[in-house]
Amino acid sequence: MKKTAATKAKKCTTKPTASNQYDWFTEARFGMFIHWGLYAIPANNEWIRNHKEISNEDYQKYFDNFNPDMLDAKEWARMAKEAGMKYFVITTKHHEGFCLWDSKHTDYKATNTPAKRDLLKEIVDAFRAEGIKIGFYYSLLDWHHPEFPIDPIHPLRNHPDALEMNKTRDVRKYAKYMRNQVTELLTNYGKIDIMWFDFSYPKDMYRGMPGKGRNDWESEKIVALVKKLSPETIINNRLDLPEYKSIVTPEQFQPEFPPRNADGTIAVWEGCQTFSGSWGYARDEETWKSEKQCIEMLIKHVARGGNLIMNVGPTARGYFDYRAVERLNDFARWMKYHSRSIYGCTMAPEEFVEPNGARYTWNPKTKRLYVHITDWPLARLHLSGLAGKISIAQFLHDGSEINFIENAKKAWNNEDLPEGTITLLLPIKHPNVAIPVVELVLK
Ligand code: GLC
Repeated sequence: MKKTAATKAKKCTTKPTASNQYDWFTEARFGMFIHWGLYAIPANNEWIRNHKEISNEDYQKYFDNFNPDMLDAKEWARMAKEAGMKYFVITTKHHEGFCLWDSKHTDYKATNTPAKRDLLKEIVDAFRAEGIKIGFYYSLLDWHHPEFPIDPIHPLRNHPDALEMNKTRDVRKYAKYMRNQVTELLTNYGKIDIMWFDFSYPKDMYRGMPGKGRNDWESEKIVALVKKLSPETIINNRLDLPEYKSIVTPEQFQPEFPPRNADGTIAVWEGCQTFSGSWGYARDEETWKSEKQCIEMLIKHVARGGNLIMNVGPTARGYFDYRAVERLNDFARWMKYHSRSIYGCTMAPEEFVEPNGARYTWNPKTKRLYVHITDWPLARLHLSGLAGKISIAQFLHDGSEINFIENAKKAWNNEDLPEGTITLLLPIKHPNVAIPVVELVLK
């Protein structure tokens, strides 16, 4: 074929290398996010530098006193594994600019704190030993770096000399710094399965200072670098490159419909969620979600074809807060019996319509439909479009059979049921699991 300008241009766009590149990711469905940095000490959200407009000088005390003496990375990894999480993504550097690893390109790193060691290495080794895939979150923002221009969300945005100070800050140098660091991250820590870049805000403007996006980060170069160093690594969608298909990452809400790529196709997506509303450890945060809410979230993400990455913000001493441990244990308890309705599952084919109070997931390989019953009904649950199609229905947690009637003429409330409906005959008593699941084996 003769190369036209258009086909040439197409070739230049950075696409995921293989169509099955995401297979492990969509099979896994459940991961752990870890937000850990100096902000664990003020313990009041990882954006504290922005919220309180803290200068580098005033933030220095957290660096000088960062000493996670109770860090037990193996324990973190064990908890993630028990909760059923198949991959994890850790903040190698968050917006505050502090690096958990021994980067050659900065002094602002864990090795120079009282921790005195490469914490990232320790953590990666522990998770890898548990067979958990490795993801690196890398903040595009950096509120500590001297070349990072002050912008609408920078801690110094209200400094009277902000514009003047920007005259000596060169975002090109900062972009180069990022590429140097990404190179370190992708060469010194073994295979990295995910690079999670965060985030872009090109349309913001404040006091004559613009936000930042692809031109500032030099996003194409970052993607090309990742592709060169580690072609199989998958990337998320916050580099301000809408034309590049990557993991779509809705945050702190559950999409009602599967998110789409810029070209209209259904995206590979991952909802990132917190136990408590804050990503970094926030001691006084009281909005912790309940066991049921957390497990429902996991189910709903998979029921809409997505992954869930659940965040933990470890404390300054290096352990997981007791409230996070409780929720992780809740996941562990539920996943022990129900992981079959999560791993390798996705949204159900359109012909199967979820009834009120339940969510479906579907395993396309085994052709099993999973009914997650979030509102326990009084004995009967009507499922449309399934008559004649089911060979057996069983509770997933104990394998016990659930009897059902096909095409019952009248529902219990005497309303006509549509043709093709099956009626599950459930026990009155809610089973002793947070959210019961009925597995329907299709003929
Ligand atoms: C955001 C926040 C941040 C958090 C992230 C996780 O964009 O800036 O603090 O790390 O989302 O999705």
